[in-house]
Amino acid sequence: MADKQAKLEIGGATHEFPVLEGSTGPDVIDIRKLYGATGAFTFDPGYKSTASCESALTYIDGQEGILLHRGYPIGQLAEHSSFMEVSYLLLNGELPNADELSTFEHTITNHTMLHEQLMTFYRGFRRDAHPMAIMCGVVGALSAFYHDSTDISDPEHRKISSHRLIAKMPTIAAMAYKYAVGQPFLYPDNSLSYTGNFLRMTFGVPAEEYEVHPAIEKAMDRIFILHADHEQNASTSTVRLAGSSGANPFACIAAGIACLWGPAHGGANEAALNMLQEIGTPDRIPHYIERAKDKNDPFRLMGFGHRVYKNYDPRATVMQQTLREVFEALKTTDPVFETALRLEEIALNDDYFKEKKLFPNVDFYSGIILSSIGFPTTMFTALFALARTVGWVAQWNEMISDPAQVIGRPRQLYTGPTQRDYVPVGQR
Ligand code: ACO
Repeated sequence: MADKQAKLEIGGATHEFPVLEGSTGPDVIDIRKLYGATGAFTFDPGYKSTASCESALTYIDGQEGILLHRGYPIGQLAEHSSFMEVSYLLLNGELPNADELSTFEHTITNHTMLHEQLMTFYRGFRRDAHPMAIMCGVVGALSAFYHDSTDISDPEHRKISSHRLIAKMPTIAAMAYKYAVGQPFLYPDNSLSYTGNFLRMTFGVPAEEYEVHPAIEKAMDRIFILHADHEQNASTSTVRLAGSSGANPFACIAAGIACLWGPAHGGANEAALNMLQEIGTPDRIPHYIERAKDKNDPFRLMGFGHRVYKNYDPRATVMQQTLREVFEALKTTDPVFETALRLEEIALNDDYFKEKKLFPNVDFYSGIILSSIGFPTTMFTALFALARTVGWVAQWNEMISDPAQVIGRPRQLYTGPTQRDYVPVGQR
């Protein structure tokens, strides 16, 4: 029996529901028995007040701008850790020791190659296909190749398919890029780091030796860390919902990729850079700020605002810093960065954005970095999907491991016609 109870009065009767406490963060009212007890549902489209699951992976305090993975602040992980280490942490709950890390890295690099037959899938796409369309298709197709790891009730199968997904994502994303630019696919080089290997598969060509730029490798790895997991966001919830039916992990991750693609979610990094390029110069910013504030104009400041963060997104802080480091390493700059900084300053001092607590999110600066590294805008969301795969599989694993797990099946407030009789077509 929970210590705290919430009382609900409905139709003259009072019902009590347990209030559950997490290790930190808001309490939740456990309404699992609400329908049985009252015959009523709750109504919360967009899940603005609904905790859909119990999780020990990631914690966000949106008011304070805090993001923790297994308790560790994102700023510390971004500064001191590596994407492989964060992946291990998310999957296993604790940071690895040196041996555990090296074994994990070895396991992941052993799974980087794609089945040769899978590569023929790419040729079915038009050359101008969006990389996210290719990613959805190719990742979904993995389920047809790895039957030996799709028994989701077997923890070992779940582990192998999770490792496969994390390992193969860079190869799949790099090949999507290569296909678009008409260059030959490059096989993985397992002597390189996870991130170095990805950069080589993307930007290397068979005719030349590709040297991984250490500063770019570090920046890219950090970008991956910043995107690794983010609690119960839309794509993660999609993965969980797809997985709740017992679907195989490759199909679930393909569903997550499809959801991530939208401009209100992962697609915002592409949209943010497009917007900054359209704005062009700082003198044009006020016009776009006015448009963003105009209720009759669908335009929004992309890379601004967040469902959970009502403060500066801590990932945006690291992203801005990383951007400066990349510019320094490449001895370059981008006028778009000046526009972005000015836009941020103007928006943060504008009453509309202040009142609605709209701050830059992770996507505001990421596009500028990725573009300066050489990625076309269409690849931005594919990179997000690559990095988020570890979060998706960790969340999926957490859900499947829970003995109390049931299929996700929301209800509705029905407002359509009530029962009526069918009328033959000639009588309508
Ligand atoms: N520009 C202008 N106004 C905005 C913006 C924005 N970027 N974001 C929110 N608002 C306004 C809305 O018009 C709304 O105003 P109203 O209350 O007067 O109607 C209010 O702020 C609240 O916005 P909602 O859309 O209700 O907030 P919600 O939590 O549903 O949406 C979202 C969050 C989708 C991220 C939204 O802020 C947005 O569209 N931002 C731009 C897209 C973006 O950057 N997405 C990336 C999110 S981070 C990620 O997925 C990795």
